[in-house]
Amino acid sequence: MTGAVYPVPPEVAARARIDRAEYDHRVASAAANPESYWMAEGQCLDWITPYTRAKATSFDEGDFGIRWFADGTLNVSANCLDRHLATRGDQVAILWEGDEPGETRRITYRELHAEVCRFANVLKGRGVRRGDRVALYLPMIVEAAVAMLACTRIGAIHTIVFGGFSPDSLADRLRDCDVRLVVTADEGCRGGKRVPLKANVDRAVANCPGVSDVIVVRRTGGAVTMVEGRDRWWDVEMATAAPDCAPEAMGAEDPLFILYTSGSTGKPKGVVHTTGGYLVWVTTTFRDVFDHRDGDIFWCTADVGWVTGHSYVVYGPLANGATTVMFDGVPNYPDHGRFWKTIDLLGVTIFYTAPTAIRALMREGEDWVTASSRASLRLLGSVGEPINPEAWEWYHRVVGDRRCPIVDTWWQTETGGMLIAPLPGATDLKPGSATKPLPGVLPEIVDAEGQVLSGACEGNLVIADSWPGQMRTLWGDHDRFFQTYFTTYPGKYFTGDGCRRDEDGYYWITGRVDDVINVSGHRMGTAEVESALVLHPKVAEAAVVGMPHDVKGQGIYAYVTLNAGEAASDELRQTLRAWVRTEIGPIATPDAIQFAPGLPKTRSGKIMRRILRKIAEGDTSSLGDISTLADPSVVESLVAERQ
Ligand code: PRX
Repeated sequence: MTGAVYPVPPEVAARARIDRAEYDHRVASAAANPESYWMAEGQCLDWITPYTRAKATSFDEGDFGIRWFADGTLNVSANCLDRHLATRGDQVAILWEGDEPGETRRITYRELHAEVCRFANVLKGRGVRRGDRVALYLPMIVEAAVAMLACTRIGAIHTIVFGGFSPDSLADRLRDCDVRLVVTADEGCRGGKRVPLKANVDRAVANCPGVSDVIVVRRTGGAVTMVEGRDRWWDVEMATAAPDCAPEAMGAEDPLFILYTSGSTGKPKGVVHTTGGYLVWVTTTFRDVFDHRDGDIFWCTADVGWVTGHSYVVYGPLANGATTVMFDGVPNYPDHGRFWKTIDLLGVTIFYTAPTAIRALMREGEDWVTASSRASLRLLGSVGEPINPEAWEWYHRVVGDRRCPIVDTWWQTETGGMLIAPLPGATDLKPGSATKPLPGVLPEIVDAEGQVLSGACEGNLVIADSWPGQMRTLWGDHDRFFQTYFTTYPGKYFTGDGCRRDEDGYYWITGRVDDVINVSGHRMGTAEVESALVLHPKVAEAAVVGMPHDVKGQGIYAYVTLNAGEAASDELRQTLRAWVRTEIGPIATPDAIQFAPGLPKTRSGKIMRRILRKIAEGDTSSLGDISTLADPSVVESLVAERQ
């Protein structure tokens, strides 16, 4: 069915905030007068001090800088909470659904406001000040949103570490940005299993002298060790904290959060987002791409440990006064009908998930879906990786009963929010395409030399000018920020993605063109997995590439060379898989490990990844030119031994 086009349903266009004419108008006004366009967009927020200028940005080396609404001041929690109290104080802000069905919690805007103020006071009481870093290592519980918003209330910078990361990965992040206080829970629950969050924090913090305080939410009641003077219970601290706390006036360019993400080299990098531009971006993109209206129940299934959770579970929805679902479970527990039953249970109107989840559930058959009504749904969304047309069609036909448009949204941790995505009332859909740029976003496709291509073409995706939600720097390494994103194609932001544009101007993301792989919508640097593998005493060398995977999109394929005298075995393969899980976390577990006597290298010693990728893909007929290899015979044995 590739090539299908789904026109905007007339009833959707009629009710939508933005129809085709309005989209065209916005694109044209953003192009004609960017400053006045962005000046107006910034008005979606309440500012303490109004800004007098919107855009002050340059991607050029000489005067490089990215500043938006820079002389304005505002407070994120006031925009997400206080400004809604008069009109929707009793509306549910967060609808929480636990890992076990039946475990639910509803918290109104008024209640959330009081909780956030209380926790802001708890943080202040522990000596946390404006600009200090606070780490959250939490399950998907209401307290995660409370802690995020409490940080923003007092101007502390949060850094959320996904609960699936190992103690070592957590410690790396805590040290990199010099975290003072960690918020965690006794244990997390995932698919009926327990995750020892507090125990992991204990192991991580043992190597982080800068952490003076740990606050522990009681989630399961499981036994934990509390360290005298350092550890405190959330409920005990909250019981005596005052429910009011004045919001701090933050500069638009003050850092809001740091979120670590994988790059093609070295350790994860701390992506820094700032206060004003980020909040404008997630507020407007949430409103427009999901065409949000009063009464919607919005469910984004992402974890707050990833950028999608930041932007579209917490900040975007709450800034719009929406009701947002937080789900602490997994799609296949207690059974494969969990998503669809929960949609009925909560009356979800907009559902936003990742292709990997759709593919996994698609395999289980339609009955799990059709056992639910899903009558409340009106819009579906996809994020995190390319969605194959087959999964798109299934999502549309089976989950959405052919009624619900699908917004396939392309963006990145670095972009803060969506950049290429359909607007349900304006954009005809093509399965597998993220469609067109949002107004004011200027994508370009360039060839390897940086030549801008026109019309229908394929190449690398860059963005020619800044948008408010763009990351501002890498924590502690502004130079690396510039080098990573602005030197491949000088004067443009390089996304790291390959992309095709068709004759209708639709964008089709083809996947990463760097050494980053996308496993189940989670970003993983091949270099990170390699570093973990070579830490094992039996491993001499490792090279990691992506391989196609039916459900995960990409799997992790590792070539491992053992030290002299070490024997390859299935047992060692299992040991190395377990090793990587412990070093980084379960999401980094290699799907395949091939023991290789040697790796294909050029005469200067550079590993030829292109060849390793082809072998991992099973595409050994077109390995290309291998004559430049130091020892071309290596390739033959690699092909013969393919896993
Ligand atoms: O390759 C693109 C892919 O995910 C990468 C960004 O990953 P991350 O920073 O973890 O953010 C994920 C959530 C926004 C991109 O470089 N990607 C994300 N969304 C899509 C996508 N690829 C194709 N289509 C998408 N809708």
